[in-house]
Amino acid sequence: MESSRITFDKWSSLAASRMGTMKRSAVRDLFAAASRSDIISLSGGMPDIKKLPLDMISRMAANTLLTEGVGALQYGGTDGRIQCRRIIAKLMEDINVQADPAEILLTCGAQQALDLIAKAFVNPGDIVITEGPTYIGALQAFSAYEPRFLCVPFDDEGIRTDLLEVELKKLGKKGAKFIYTIPNFQNPGGVTMSLERRKRLLELSHEYEVPIIEDDPYGRLRFEGDDVPALRSMDPDVIYLGTVSKVFAPGLRTGWILAPKPIIAKVNLAKQGADLCSSALNQVMVEHYFMDTPWRETLATLVATYKERRDAMLDALEEYFPPEATWTEPQGGFFVWVTLPRYVDTSKMLSVALENGVTYVPGAGCYPDKDGFNSMRIAFCYEEPERIREAIRRLAATINERLALYRAFIAADALPETKEVQR
Ligand SMILES: Cc1ncc(COP(=O)(O)O)c(C=O)c1O
Repeated sequence: MESSRITFDKWSSLAASRMGTMKRSAVRDLFAAASRSDIISLSGGMPDIKKLPLDMISRMAANTLLTEGVGALQYGGTDGRIQCRRIIAKLMEDINVQADPAEILLTCGAQQALDLIAKAFVNPGDIVITEGPTYIGALQAFSAYEPRFLCVPFDDEGIRTDLLEVELKKLGKKGAKFIYTIPNFQNPGGVTMSLERRKRLLELSHEYEVPIIEDDPYGRLRFEGDDVPALRSMDPDVIYLGTVSKVFAPGLRTGWILAPKPIIAKVNLAKQGADLCSSALNQVMVEHYFMDTPWRETLATLVATYKERRDAMLDALEEYFPPEATWTEPQGGFFVWVTLPRYVDTSKMLSVALENGVTYVPGAGCYPDKDGFNSMRIAFCYEEPERIREAIRRLAATINERLALYRAFIAADALPETKEVQR
């Protein structure tokens, strides 16, 4: 049994200084609470793997070992199995990316790709540009290498390239190490970068000689509207990160980096020290899943499921949330980003929400500093529509309690103006 005793850390003075800059993930912290059956979790970005055809996958897994033999149990090359890299290159043809398998390195999820890139490129004090808010896991991975973060806000069309340009101008050429972006159904924002913005972002990357990292776990999870070309399909200098986590299974921990060969060589070196190579057995599973199963049909079922849940969430927000709240309307992916009046601190409100039986990710976790305190990420990927509706009802009640408290204590004429509701 796990002990609940708090242990005094007698070695704390020995910890590396980077431990002080590393950020905790609110999502990880909420994991235990989120698994309680009385709590509805809108916090985790977990794919609904219950919808995967488990019988078929089990048969495939058994055959995998029979057909591949002990090779699947051996160490492999650091870049990953060539068979797997070829299949991934083939998959990327769907998004008009022509990839040479020699420019692909397999990683333990896209998460490891983020860590290895930072390990290979970031010195303490370097500037790293991200969208603000951005993916918590990226902040965690990068922060271990002690950069200075510069967050550029987004709107409905993705990153504000006009504001980015202002910053790049100030920094000058090669003034930042890289620009990290999640152009499709951004985590946590849910927004997708327009074609115009993508083109402008590429221009700025060349003008200021700052490379772009395009992180694309959600691109295939579109519910409506047209696909927007991947940055990498328009520019071979872009470092592209992919993963099977959201289209197949995160438990296989298989992601990849597609990048020019000199970058792959550096990342390869960084990976040698991290884990020598990714699991060959998992790679073989990935190969067989994408070669031998009707994965496109399975994915279409999953996407339809997520769309139904997104609709349930947006409908419930409309019905229950106060007019002071605004939120994004994603065309795919897993997340909605909610902004509340500035007098609501969503980190402080979380314990009350938990008591009311619902969790979310406080917005402050998605920024490197104290920004975003009045916002939250709510995920529609995991719960059934009825539970999502109930969760939004509980959350609205929690928020309304805060608003009522504020109104009771502060004279009405001192209330900050509410922004126009963007629906
Ligand atoms: C934007 C983004 N990048 C990377 C990851 C990590 O994915 P993986 O499971 O492949 O490590 C996630 C996971 O949620 C994500 O949302």
